[in-house]
Amino acid sequence: MATKTHIGKSIGILMGGASVERAVSLKTGEAVAMALDGLGYTVTKIMVDHNIPFALKSEAIDIAFIALHGRYGEDGTIQGLLELMKIPYTGSGVAACALSMDKILSRDLFSAHALPMPAVFILRSEEIAGFNLQELPFKSPVVVKPVSEGSSVGVAIVEENKDFHPALKEAAQYGPRIIIEQYIAGKEVHVGILNGQTLGAIEIKPKGRFYDYSAKYVSGMSQHVFPAPLSESCEKEVLALALKAHQVLGCSGYSRVDLLIDDQDQPHLLEVNALPGMTETSLMPEIAAGVGIPFGRLLEQILETAGLGK
Ligand SMILES: Nc1ncnc2c1ncn2[C@@H]1O[C@H](COP(=O)(O)OP(=O)(O)O)[C@@H](O)[C@H]1O
Ligand SMILES: [Mg+2]
Repeated sequence: MATKTHIGKSIGILMGGASVERAVSLKTGEAVAMALDGLGYTVTKIMVDHNIPFALKSEAIDIAFIALHGRYGEDGTIQGLLELMKIPYTGSGVAACALSMDKILSRDLFSAHALPMPAVFILRSEEIAGFNLQELPFKSPVVVKPVSEGSSVGVAIVEENKDFHPALKEAAQYGPRIIIEQYIAGKEVHVGILNGQTLGAIEIKPKGRFYDYSAKYVSGMSQHVFPAPLSESCEKEVLALALKAHQVLGCSGYSRVDLLIDDQDQPHLLEVNALPGMTETSLMPEIAAGVGIPFGRLLEQILETAGLGK
């Protein structure tokens, strides 16, 4: 497939933003800008803040490559603005982004399609006081997480009641509802999806107990194995589940789906990342490289999926 359609057009790399993942976005943006520039594209880096409508107007870009992560970037808000301004953009559309960023809404759709997930209990922040680990319908360890963050911000694994409240309070800083999930012991795998097809699954082996912020961004804090060493049937199941998750949320272009596989080889869906990290050492590019798609080519393919009304 020829993938040079956008040579000569003005491509705005939208980066920065106001989420807790701003630093990651800046890295993604730099990596994307450098690679596309190196391939001969006309790129402009655009720092996203509340003046973004004016910046988009004055830069008069033809296409937006969204290098943002988290709130206001991956949650449908920037996509809505770009729709209004009729600027084609990369990645998923407004609704798919909003659904994938909200782990409760994603779960509702996944369960409507009978996709397997860890058992869950949703708590409201005003219910924290007096709520104990023993009241959950499943046993510890449990995982406490915010509804709409990423990069493992606000995520904690809790074994004992004394650690439960601090974890709930931390997660409550990010919104009025808190997700408490049953802890799944086993393998963690992430699946890359490009243009409606799974590229493959990579195994993550964090040095610590889980794939936390430092395991994600500090080199040496996690090991990656591609392709993930899974039995043929388990790999098939994992890839099909990841694709189904991407589809039921209505994602398009690309995404990365996070899953856990328990000791009985049963996969459990964690989440779909509508705008996964895209530095050269991020997982999505690593998966693509593993199947022979170099970073620049991956970006070109993503650029080809830019559009409106998706
Ligand atoms: N139910 C669970 N059991 C075991 N580990 C979990 C569970 N949920 C999350 N984790 C760990 O926490 C990490 C972050 O969780 P995730 O739901 O993907 O949120 P985020 O959007 O912050 O990436 C996962 O990559 C995994 O290592
Ligand atoms: Mg995740």
